[in-house]
Amino acid sequence: MSGHSTYQPQNPVLKWLETRLPIGGLIHSSFVAYPTPKNLNYWWTFGGILSFMLGVQIITGIVLAMHYTPHVDLAFKSVEGIMRDVNYGWLLRYLHSNGASMFFIAVYIHIFRGMYYGSYKEPREVLWILGVIIYLLMMATGFLGYTLPWGQMSFWGATVITNFFSAIPGVGETIVTWLWGGYAVGNPTLNRFFSLHYLLPFVIAGVVVLHVWALHVVGQNNPTGIEPKSDKDTVPFTPYATVKDGFFMVVFCLFFAWFVFYIPNYLGHADNYIVANPAVTPQHIVPEWYYLPFYAILRAIPDKLLGVLALFGSILILAFLPWLDTSRVRSARYRPLYRQFFWLFVLVCLGLGWLGSKPAEGIYTVLARILTVYYFAHFIIILPLLGIFEKAKPLPNSISDSVLGAKA
Ligand code: HEM
Repeated sequence: MSGHSTYQPQNPVLKWLETRLPIGGLIHSSFVAYPTPKNLNYWWTFGGILSFMLGVQIITGIVLAMHYTPHVDLAFKSVEGIMRDVNYGWLLRYLHSNGASMFFIAVYIHIFRGMYYGSYKEPREVLWILGVIIYLLMMATGFLGYTLPWGQMSFWGATVITNFFSAIPGVGETIVTWLWGGYAVGNPTLNRFFSLHYLLPFVIAGVVVLHVWALHVVGQNNPTGIEPKSDKDTVPFTPYATVKDGFFMVVFCLFFAWFVFYIPNYLGHADNYIVANPAVTPQHIVPEWYYLPFYAILRAIPDKLLGVLALFGSILILAFLPWLDTSRVRSARYRPLYRQFFWLFVLVCLGLGWLGSKPAEGIYTVLARILTVYYFAHFIIILPLLGIFEKAKPLPNSISDSVLGAKA
């Protein structure tokens, strides 16, 4: 559904290039003439924001790597050096560490937007699954990056997470030793984590290209969840979507800047300013905020192996969403019951996040178990049944009708 390209370069050099590599036409049909539903709201600006944040993370990361030393005796010191001695090193580091959090805030909004408006439904299943793959890669990248400053949380977080693999029957211990490159988290671990942390963002960038390609094949969904029917339902991507995306990116950057300049350590853990010490275990080992709901699910289950399976299951189940949601209506706007369950699900995820930050004992464990059961029930029981029993509201005839308020 990419826009028909009317791109005809006037400049002789561009003309010469275009007959040999029609990249101008590709950019023009994808980001200029591309027909965009005219009713997209600000929730549709987060894909652009995510692309921007990926760029910010890659650029700040490359410069940080020029000053960072991946060695257990030097990593912590080199990060302190970046903060104190490298020109604007503090800015680079705070942009990168808070940038990771901003990236996750944006991706959670992007995912929940997709769930609310049913963007994962046919024909956008592959687009959605590519998104789930990106999300998994983002989680791996964030985890590897957190190890690099070699503070107490870096070390103990890496120890706890890699230890999950020991739950695999028979080969678990061997796998953990192989991951560590030794018999504990140490210098070889730090080296390989650095190498992979540098590599994965480029893999993410590659999958993002596929994601956007898949998007341009099937076209964007929109708040009504019905497909554009005529030219009246769409506007060219430029200037309409470009300007709207650009405006909200600026708003998002203000939010980002507030963290970087006023509360740069708010989302981090104080213990990570203590150099890693394998002999002293911190009182509570907590991951970064964006992993907390999954951490709560892991700890809610008394058995280690089942806990790890539930943790991975809670993410992988997202990939099956297009088939678990049996409703033929996409947007929650026309699904009164689904809308309520959607918001309940958001609350459950927030609740799990809060529980992930609490010690795994007493009432916290009980609550975490209840919410974990609900989390899975949402996908396996509620969504399939809702699609069958829910009576959807009448859909408008077209996007234009919905925008202009014509009766359905
Ligand atoms: C680095 C991370 C990501 C980037 C750069 C990215 C980029 C984009 C862009 C540019 C769009 C079009 C604009 C928009 O709809 O906001 C988009 C749409 C979409 N993305 Fe992503 N995305 C990312 C992660 C994800 C994830 C994790 C998921 C789901 C698990 C996902 C699912 C979708 C879906 C379903 C659409 C189509 C939405 C619609 O048209 O209604 N994306 N993405």
